[in-house]
Amino acid sequence: MSQPRKVSVLFVCLGNICRSPAAEGVFRRYVEQQGVADHIDIDSAGAIDYHRDKSADPRMRAAASRRGYPLTSVARQALPEDLDRFELIVAMDRDNLRYLQELAGAPQTHIRLLGSFLPEHQGHPEQAPEVPDPYYGSAQGFENVLDMIERACPALCAACRKLLGD
Ligand code: 4NP
Repeated sequence: MSQPRKVSVLFVCLGNICRSPAAEGVFRRYVEQQGVADHIDIDSAGAIDYHRDKSADPRMRAAASRRGYPLTSVARQALPEDLDRFELIVAMDRDNLRYLQELAGAPQTHIRLLGSFLPEHQGHPEQAPEVPDPYYGSAQGFENVLDMIERACPALCAACRKLLGD
């Protein structure tokens, strides 16, 4: 039997314990609900290796769990080979974006800011908002991360469908 056609998406933040694990969990649920989970591989990684092998931050896991998203990521650093392996790479802020662009060595159109998928910012990537780092902030910061990711899911999924040729 032939394998389903697949597209792969990598979410990247600084530590891979807050924002990108949340994006992985929220987007995974979204694509399940849209019936395209068999066609989209989702992973996450960090710009730093400091938290390698850790689960998502307990504050992020608790906030996600309250909305029904289990976070199952194991932290790892984003590596040069990820740039070839993933068809869409989604950075949470401009520092993450710069890290990925430096890894790539040249501008790459498949590396984008999550904020560029927000409904009000489509078509204006240079004005796209960043997903603020919640690590040293209040509980509201974790809710804000989840709110932004949830709002980006429809356009993210549409971009995946386009890559799939739907
Ligand atoms: P993340 O949050 O990039 O969303 O995973 C952070 C996690 C850890 C640190 C900073 C941000 N840190 O400084 O260790």
